[in-house]
Formats: sequence, C-alpha cells, structure tokens
Amino acid sequence: MSNDLKIAFGSQTGNAKNLAYTIGEQLAARGLLNEVIDMSAMEPEELHHTHYLLIVTSTYGDGEAPENASEWLSFLKFNDHLNLHQLSFSVLGLGDTYYPHFCGCAKDFDEFLASHGAHRLTARLDCDLYYEEQYGEWIEEFTSSLLKTMKERDE
Ligand SMILES: Cc1cc2nc3c(=O)[nH]c(=O)nc-3n(C[C@H](O)[C@H](O)[C@H](O)COP(=O)(O)O)c2cc1C
Repeated sequence: MSNDLKIAFGSQTGNAKNLAYTIGEQLAARGLLNEVIDMSAMEPEELHHTHYLLIVTSTYGDGEAPENASEWLSFLKFNDHLNLHQLSFSVLGLGDTYYPHFCGCAKDFDEFLASHGAHRLTARLDCDLYYEEQYGEWIEEFTSSLLKTMKERDE
C-alpha cells in the first residue's frame, strides 16, 4: 500500500529515536499506518519507492549528521540527478541552540529533499531542549497535511 508512512530517525544517544517512536504511537492511535526505522537499516536508494516520510534527526559535530544518518545525507547531497517527485516529506530536528549550527542536519535533509523534487508537507520544526508546545501544534499540522495529501493521491 502506497499510503504507508515511514518515520526515519537519525540519532546517536536516543533522543530522536525515542521521539520517533512516540510520534509513531501517536499517529497509529489516529489510524495512520507507520513504520519507525533507523536510517542505517534502510538503503537510501529505497527513497525512490517511498511515498510518505518523516525524518526525525539530531545534529552532531559542527552541524553534521549523527552516524546512523550520514549515509542518507551523503546520498542526497552528492547525487545531483535524483528525482524524488513521488515523495512527500517533513523533517523534525532535535538540537541545541548552544551550537552555532542549530539543527544543521535537519536543515540539510529538508533542503536536499526539496531540491530533488520531493513535496514538503509542513515547514521543518527545529526543537531545542523544551519543545512540547511547538511540537503539539506542529504534529497537528503535519497530520492534517499528510491526510490531505494521501486523500488527494488516492482520488
Ligand atoms: C558533541 C555534540 C555535538 C553537538 N552538535 C550539535 C550541533 O552542531 N547542532 C545542534 O543543534 N545540536 C548539537 N548537539 C545537540 C544534540 O543534537 C542534542 O543533544 C540531541 O537532542 C541529541 O539527540 P540524539 O540523542 O537523538 O542523538 C550536539 C551534542 C553533542 C553531545
């Protein structure tokens, strides 16, 4: 079924991973099928066959990807001729404003996916340590945009 949502996490110490599973449970409770995956467990080429994707990722180093997300990010960054028009996506970043490249990895994913023709479901959400309020609003926006897009594509 093409309506399945993949929630892919990039995470080093578990924060983004935990949030990805929490989101998966929240969406499942609303009847939205989804699969939570570690980015390192899926070949990035499979993005060509993915229709709905939520990336939840932290940032390390100087605005770089956590280890398990680096292959996906390189794939998107160094393949100029990708065509991901079939893909609808959103990105949620977890980071720390203490660092100059706040949520740098999330920003990169967001930009590269859009530059390869993927359709952005919602504006990216960049989260610092305390994000409950922004997250609550954002997940509502994401869910309604996702449902609307799925409905349109099924018609
Ligand atoms: C060594 C180190 C480097 C980091 N670099 C950044 C950074 O450049 N930008 C940012 O927004 N957050 C940065 N962070 C913060 C992490 O992204 C943040 O703590 C996040 O919640 C970790 O999520 P994870 O457990 O899923 O990996 C850094 C944290 C550490 C420990």
